[in-house]
Amino acid sequence: MLQPVIMAGGSGSRLWPLSRQLNPKQFLTLTDSRMTMLQATINRLQGLSCAQPLLICNEQHRFLAAAQLDHLGMDDARIILEPCGRNTAPAIALAAIKLATAGQDPLLLILAADHRIADIDAFHASVEAAIPLAEAGKLVTFGIVPTAAETGYGYIQQGEQLSDKAFSVNRFVEKPDADTASDYVQSGQYFWNSGMFLFRASRYLEELATHRPDILACCQQAALGKAYDLLFTRVDAEAFAACPDESIDYAVMENTADAVVVSLDAGWSDIGSWSALWDISDKDAQGNAVQGDVLAHDSKNTLIRAEHRLVATLGVEDLVIVETKDAVLVAHKDRVQEIKTLVGELRTTG
Ligand code: GDD
Ligand code: MG
Repeated sequence: MLQPVIMAGGSGSRLWPLSRQLNPKQFLTLTDSRMTMLQATINRLQGLSCAQPLLICNEQHRFLAAAQLDHLGMDDARIILEPCGRNTAPAIALAAIKLATAGQDPLLLILAADHRIADIDAFHASVEAAIPLAEAGKLVTFGIVPTAAETGYGYIQQGEQLSDKAFSVNRFVEKPDADTASDYVQSGQYFWNSGMFLFRASRYLEELATHRPDILACCQQAALGKAYDLLFTRVDAEAFAACPDESIDYAVMENTADAVVVSLDAGWSDIGSWSALWDISDKDAQGNAVQGDVLAHDSKNTLIRAEHRLVATLGVEDLVIVETKDAVLVAHKDRVQEIKTLVGELRTTG
């Protein structure tokens, strides 16, 4: 039986002003008005043979997370709370250590809480294909055929074919620069890393012990003596604060000799920006993706989201316009990656 571990501690700052520190992307309804990204992540597990998911998120989001799980009827879900964000390598380590403490060593299906997957059957087929590899001790990543030289992703160079969907990994390169990414895409030999993984808990801890013993030691120290209660599990704040901030991609996946990649062709998107959301949204005949009370007149290829007021546009194109109660964003669609910097500025200037 698989143990899903859902990582929900990101800040989603490129989707400001909808995504906020206290209400980030994974807790929002972005692609499906009936459920949040987190709820969609859980729902798409239906049909796989899985244990109750284990969620790992920041302490400040505990009630938000618990309410969203409760809404799905999961009032006995388990949530590990991080006192501060230390990225995904420690987050996954805490989950693996907690399970080991309870005498369990399941296959961990590591999922991001903020991805959209259109074809759930194809997702299930890739997970099923990954199971025998993970059972044999491999660290499986799910690879997406790239469509652009994105620099925000990990790139996986495929090696020999192992089965219908699986390949050995020659190289895993996290977030290459633009020229390198472009070379990779043109070579036709690389997948994007989807940011989802399957491996046995103990194998992850072994790899971390080999490549980043400092991270493992901090997480072990932080988890010491902290038992599961029914809903929230806390770790020692001081010990966890001392942990290096590192993603699984840099800490383990770039270094392990045991990575394999299983291809995933399931309409995956990590909705990393407003333009990525525009790409996958239903659009009107002029290419506008609108939501809420919007009047788009003679406007083209624009994403317009009105949360509280009527938004009217006239004669504009290629914009992103997001209206919320206390902030309005108007940006060119080609510049939306820079929203992260804008948000950084807002935080420092208050
Ligand atoms: N619990 C917890 N704690 N979760 C976290 C933390 C943390 O400190 N930091 C990030 N997460 C969660 C995010 O909420 C998201 O669901 C997931 O972990 C991935 O983190 P991101 O910050 O979104 O990573 P990324 O997009 O820069 O890169 C990763 O995903 C790409 C695909 O979307 C990497 O795995 C890349 O290689 C990959 O291509
Ligand atoms: Mg991401």
